Amino acid sequence: MLQRALIVDDEPDIRELLEITLARMQLETRSARNLAEACEWLARERFDLCLTDMRLPDGSGLDLVQRIQQQYPHLPVAMITAYGSLDLAINALKAGAFDFLTKPVDLARLRELVGSALRLHASPSSAPQMPRLLGEAPPMQALRGQIAKLARSQAPVYISGESGTGKELVARLIHAQGPRAAAAFVPVNCGAIPSELMESEFFGHRKGSFTGALEDKPGLFRAADGGTLFLDEVADLPLPMQVKLLRAIQEKAVRSIGGQQEVAVDVRLLCATHKDLAGEVAAGRFRQDLYYRLNVIELRVPPLRERREDIALLAEHCLQRLAAASTSAPARLTPEALARLQGYRFPGNVRELENMLERAHTLCEGARIEAADLRLEEPGVACAGAPLATPDNLEEYLERIERQAILQSLEETRWNRTAAAQRLGLSFRSMRYRLKKLGID
Ligand SMILES: Nc1ncnc2c1ncn2[C@@H]1O[C@H](COP(=O)(O)OP(=O)(O)OP(=O)(O)O)[C@@H](O)[C@H]1O
Ligand SMILES: [Mg+2]
Repeated sequence: MLQRALIVDDEPDIRELLEITLARMQLETRSARNLAEACEWLARERFDLCLTDMRLPDGSGLDLVQRIQQQYPHLPVAMITAYGSLDLAINALKAGAFDFLTKPVDLARLRELVGSALRLHASPSSAPQMPRLLGEAPPMQALRGQIAKLARSQAPVYISGESGTGKELVARLIHAQGPRAAAAFVPVNCGAIPSELMESEFFGHRKGSFTGALEDKPGLFRAADGGTLFLDEVADLPLPMQVKLLRAIQEKAVRSIGGQQEVAVDVRLLCATHKDLAGEVAAGRFRQDLYYRLNVIELRVPPLRERREDIALLAEHCLQRLAAASTSAPARLTPEALARLQGYRFPGNVRELENMLERAHTLCEGARIEAADLRLEEPGVACAGAPLATPDNLEEYLERIERQAILQSLEETRWNRTAAAQRLGLSFRSMRYRLKKLGID
C-alpha cells in the first residue's frame, strides 16, 4: 500500500514542489490550503506523514501540530518555517513536531526528512539487545513514555540528572527507539578530551594538517552522520569549543582541520550533564546561545532516593545479572539488608547500587547478603569522633545522621519500632513520622 502524506501550505508553488518531490519518492499526497482543509483531510483519511507551513490563512501551523499530537499521536508532522525564524522552529519542536524545514526548501533536506519520518513507521520500537530502563515508580513510567515520544522527534534533548541515574541509558534508548536506530550512536565524554585535541576529535583532520596528524580522521560528527551524537558531560566543554560546536549545529556542516570545504552532516544531538547547566550559563561558563540550542527539550532523570520503591526491583535484576555472569545462583538480600538499602541516600544512584551489590555478591556467604555485607557507612556517625568536613547541604547532612541513628536502633531492637523509639527518646508517633519521611519501611 502506498504511504500517504498531507501537505499544508497556502502557497501553490510550495505545494507543487512538495507534491512533485514526494511523488518521486513513491508517496501519495493530499494537499490543503489552510487549517480547516487540513483537518478535513485528517478526519477522512489515514496519513503517514504531514508537512505543514507555519503561517496559514486561518491559523498557525503550531495549532495543527498540537491537534495532531492530541488526536493522531502516531502521525509524524514536520514544520516548514521562513528562513531565520529559528525560534518558531524550536517552538514547533517543543509542541511535538518531529523536525522542521526552512524556506527556501532544500530538496535534499526534504528527502532526508521524509525518509526518516517513514522509517519511524517501519521500525517498531523494540531493540532486543538494549538494556531496559527499569522502574515502576510514577516518575519512571512517565520517563519511559517521554522517551518513546522523543525517539520519534529530531529535537535536541538535554538529559539532566545526578550522576549514576541512567542518563546515558536514556540517551541510548532515545536513539534505539527512533528512525536513526540503524545508524551510529556516538557517545562522547566532553570532559575527557584534552582541549588541544578537541577540534580534531569533533570535526576531524586531514593527514599532515598538524604534527601528529598521520592519517585522515573523519571526526565524531561525521561518524554520527545519519545517527545520534551524544554529548555527555556537555558542561565541561571549554568556551572556545562551544563556539565551534554552535556553528556546526547551525550550519549542519563541519570543516575538518586542514580540510578545504565544509561537509554536510545530519546528526541528532542529545546531551547530558550531572551539573546544573542553567547555573553554568548564569555563571558565564556555558554559552547561552548553545544552551538554548541544545536544551530544546529537557528530560530529567530522577535520583534513586526519589523513587525508593524501585530499589528492590533494581537490586533483584542486578543480582540476577551478576549470577548469570558467574553461573551461580542469584544471591538474596535479607530483609534487613533490603531495608538498609531502602533507607540509604544513594548519592551515586543506580551505579552506586550496582557497585555495592557486585561487591556484596563477591563477599557474601551462601548466596545471602546481610546488611553488613553492604558496607554501608553513613558518614557522621561512623566517624563520630573524627573532625567533620563542612557539609555542603545541612538538611541532607542532618537527615543522613537521623537515618543512621534510626536504622541503628532498629537493628539493635530487631526492628521493634516501639523499642527503637524508646531508645532514641522518641514517641511512637514521632518515630512513625520519621520513618515515613525518610522512606524507611
Ligand atoms: N532505570 C534503570 N534500570 C536499569 N539500569 C539502570 C537504570 N538506571 C541506570 N541503570 C544502570 O546504572 C548504570 C549507570 O547508568 P548511566 O551510565 O546511564 O548513568 P549516568 O547518569 O550517565 O551517570 P554519570 O552521570 O555518572 O555518567 C548503568 O550500568 C545503567 O545500565
Ligand atoms: Mg553518563
